[in-house]
Amino acid sequence: MGIETILTDLKGKELSELPKETDAVTNSTPSNPNSNTNRTNKSRKNRRRQKKMLPVQRMYDTCKDVFASGGTGIVPSAEKIEQLRAVLDDIKPEDVGLRPEMPYFRLTTARRTPAITYLHLYACDEFSIGIFCLPPSGVIPLHNHPGMTVFSKLLFGTMHIKSYDWVVDTPVNTAAVENPSETQHPEARLAKVKVDSDMTAPCNASILYPADGGNMHCFTAVTACAVLDVLGPPYSDPDGRHCTYYLDFPFTRFSVDGVTIPEEEREGYAWLQERENPRELAVVGDIYRGPRIVEN
Ligand SMILES: [Fe+2]
Repeated sequence: MGIETILTDLKGKELSELPKETDAVTNSTPSNPNSNTNRTNKSRKNRRRQKKMLPVQRMYDTCKDVFASGGTGIVPSAEKIEQLRAVLDDIKPEDVGLRPEMPYFRLTTARRTPAITYLHLYACDEFSIGIFCLPPSGVIPLHNHPGMTVFSKLLFGTMHIKSYDWVVDTPVNTAAVENPSETQHPEARLAKVKVDSDMTAPCNASILYPADGGNMHCFTAVTACAVLDVLGPPYSDPDGRHCTYYLDFPFTRFSVDGVTIPEEEREGYAWLQERENPRELAVVGDIYRGPRIVEN
């Protein structure tokens, strides 16, 4: 089952099954706009409320603002991106009710490729928030985020990230690849490696953009780990934002007229070819049981 299917299946299901609303977010009492005292009290109260606000609620409120006028290919301003990054940087596993000892992160011998759990926190037309829980050696295969800005915050553990961006204005390779089972989508496009390294928590959130920052990525759990993902806008088939999976091939695998890369730089490039949804990928949706997000 693809990641986007899990998102669709869980959308709308989560709110009724979550713990009761906390008292972290309550409506303010109306104040007299002409009263300085009231204004001061109100701003003090706002500051207190902001301080008291749970991290997940702060994340949701910030997403509402950052992605307010979002859409396919629309990247929030640098200022807004920094705001959300700062909020995500502060989020810890306990803020979303997670502990590394939980069953989601245990390696079972039943499957060759361990199942990954997706916890759905929130989704609307403008953004979605969810957490991928990976046992050791769990893999989220190479996939894209069309027209999206994505924040990924590793909550705990070590994860290997390999990501690519398309190289624009280069011819595609139209030759069939050697494996006959992979010839349904023979075109391969040149991509440049953006990241190919391990990331260990605690670390800052990483951000990818529609055409930069590693829009196609693959996550491999070196240890058990959890990744909080914020997508703006979310995957949506009707809006043309479909999750596509890819196989990557070394640059030297194909030769295409008009495409030359100096030998010493070839490691930094690969041919990406669309593939069917990977059969080995098992993403199981579960109900998020951490502190509740209150919609506003
Ligand atoms: Fe992703």
